Formats: sequence, C-alpha cells, structure tokens
Amino acid sequence: MNNRRVIVKIPASTANLGPGFDTLGMALSLYAWIELSVCERTEFQLYGDGMKGLPRDKSNLIYKVAQLVFKEADVTVPEISISMYSDIPLTRGLGSSASAIVGALAAANALIGSPLTDHKLFQMATALEGHPDNVGASLFGGIVVSAWDGERADYVRIEPPRQLETLVAIPAFQLSTEKARHALPSQISMADAVFNVGRSSLLVAALASGELSIIRHAMKDRLHQPYRAALIPGMANILEHAVEYGALGAALSGAGPTLIAFVDSNCDRKSELEQFLIQTLKQAGIAAETLWLSPCVHGPQITIENMKEQPALSLLDRIKGEVTA
Ligand code: HSE
Repeated sequence: MNNRRVIVKIPASTANLGPGFDTLGMALSLYAWIELSVCERTEFQLYGDGMKGLPRDKSNLIYKVAQLVFKEADVTVPEISISMYSDIPLTRGLGSSASAIVGALAAANALIGSPLTDHKLFQMATALEGHPDNVGASLFGGIVVSAWDGERADYVRIEPPRQLETLVAIPAFQLSTEKARHALPSQISMADAVFNVGRSSLLVAALASGELSIIRHAMKDRLHQPYRAALIPGMANILEHAVEYGALGAALSGAGPTLIAFVDSNCDRKSELEQFLIQTLKQAGIAAETLWLSPCVHGPQITIENMKEQPALSLLDRIKGEVTA
C-alpha cells in the first residue's frame, strides 16, 4: 500500500431523467479525476477553477470520505496525498458532489487493496449524498434505477440505448441542491403520484427496450420540475417545446439549473435544437454553455501504479489530452 498510487476517473451524472425523482440516474461523458497515495503528511493538489476555495486540510471531503473507507475496512492510513481535477461544473445539476464522493470511495478502497465491495461502496455513497440516483450512475456507469429507504439502497443497471446522445445547457449560475429541494412541497396528490409512477415506469421500459419514440411521452414529471421551474427562467419553455426541435425528450438535470435533452444520435436537427436551448435561455436573461455528451458506460476507471517504478507526474500532466478545459 505504501508504494501504491491510485488514479481514478469518474463520470458525471444526470439524475431524475424527468419523472424518476431520486430514483433514475445516467452517467455522462464528462469526468473528474482523483489521485491518492500514502504520504508522511497530508497534502493537496487541487487543479482547476472549480477547486478554488475548497479546503486543503483534513476537513476536505475527499480526505473525510477516504477515512470512512479506511475505518470501514479497519485499516489506519492517517496521512494521504490527494490530487483532484474536475471538468464537472459545481452545483449545476451534473452530479459533481456525487462524482467526488464515488471517486474518493473508489480510490481509497483501491489504495488498500479493494476490501470493500461495490455494493458496500454504493451504500456508503448513498448515505453520504442523501439520495442514490447520482452516486449510482457514477459508481456503476450507464443508466441506474435505484431505491433507498434511508438504510438500504438497491439498484438495477441498464445498458444505455446505443443511439442515445444528450445535449446539456449549463446556465451560468449556480443552484444548490438544498435550495432546489426546498422548493418542493411536502405532500402531493394521488393523481400526481400515479402520473409519475406511470411516466417513470414507461421511461425505464423505453430505455431498457430501446423504444426511443416513447421517451417524449415518458419524460414528463409532476413531482419536482413544476416546482423548480420558477428557479430557472426559460426551463418550462424548453421542457415543453424541445421535442419540436428534434429532441426525444427534455428534463431538468438533477436539481438543476442544467437542462438536458435526450437526442437520437442520427438526428439531423442537432444544431437547430442547440440554438433553441441557447436562445430560449438567452431570451429569459440566462447565458448558458452547451455540451454534447454521451452516456458513459463505465463507473470509476481505476489505474494502480507502483510509485517506485512509475515516474512522478502531476495529475494534470497525466490526464492532459483527456480534459475538456
Ligand atoms: N434527485 C436529486 C434532486 C438530485 O432532484 O434533488 C440532486 O442532484
């Protein structure tokens, strides 16, 4: 363990997919990287704008999550070197905190010889994040259907349809999950519950069977999106009309503010759709960046090196060529 260096590449995720509030998640081709090794005194190399202001001491989330793994496995590793770089924008609804948690769990577990199972890591990640949808997607890749009762999380992974692609519009403002959850009512009607059970079930069946034409009817929601729309100018318009511009369906990504459109990769109206999203947000006074992302079929991709044999490269030098920034 002392000579081991672990580098983990973890995917971003989109949660809810419209009707599957706190239940459905899909990993996306946008990544964070975490490197861990044992050292004499805990140190941090946090690269990129998104890392500014994050703690560089033992109150750091990655450090704390790694220590939970060591404790669970009953090993003592008080001092670790942590490097991190992320292309996943913070507090935009693309699962940045879930990818950090999953990355820290996977890296720490690999550092000590992987004593904990993926099932155990999923339980820990869900308890830390407070819901299973983003962490499940980042941990298992693909589309993950999950349920958590506060004690036990269960999941089934679905292979994403081959021709599924996504377009995300990332508004230039942050929205905390806490604030976006605060906008939700504490009770809903039986009619709305039935509406969502139907749509969510239909969506899972459509994604599992590849019946993409159903997605436009399935990606509808009455549990969270109507209440969150007031926080994201332009959102209601995009969710209602994206299909008229070639999308298979559209949703708020996680708690927002990012909006996500599902698209058939053979669609010939991609630039029209992209313009619709950008212009709709612009007219609502919101600047946004768009990215075309594919479902990511991998969970954490782990590289383990022997520090005595491999040269010491900085994490940034190591992943150069892979990052989008
Ligand atoms: N399911 C969560 C929510 C995802 O919508 O609040 C937050 O990332």
